[in-house]
Amino acid sequence: MAQFTININGASHQIDVAADTPMLWVLRDHIKLVGTKYGCGIGECGACTIHVDGVATRACSLPISVVGDSKITTIEGLSENNDHPVQKAWIEHDVPQCGYCQSGQIMNAAALLEQNPSPSDTEIDTAMNGNICRCGTYTRVKKAIKTASSQG
Ligand code: FES
Ligand code: FES
Repeated sequence: MAQFTININGASHQIDVAADTPMLWVLRDHIKLVGTKYGCGIGECGACTIHVDGVATRACSLPISVVGDSKITTIEGLSENNDHPVQKAWIEHDVPQCGYCQSGQIMNAAALLEQNPSPSDTEIDTAMNGNICRCGTYTRVKKAIKTASSQG
């Protein structure tokens, strides 16, 4: 066990865990931020996507020991009142079905638009390719991203 001080959604947290503990479990089990979901655990589904200094990152594959001073943002910290443009577009297009993959989809989409406010269809497809939705909400995900983009 070791003690880590990490910044999550603008707040500092001290965590005592093994150095190889994935951030997914730090968030869910230690800080009780359960919006970040466990899908595959091996970096293949995107359900656990968070932002690390604004970059979409798979929390299941990110050991706490490499986080350092980076700023972590989870779905709970994306906006104050669920009013991030991506969240508003998600509501407008009624994107979720079961909802399980959706926080990962939203976090990945928000990171994409932060880096590229006006992505092409191909750029959206490429960026979102690794976020799996077993309910097949892909068409609505794409529409919502276009609405949230500067083209929307
Ligand atoms: S749970 Fe992290 S990518 Fe699937
Ligand atoms: S909405 Fe059900 S897995 Fe995506």
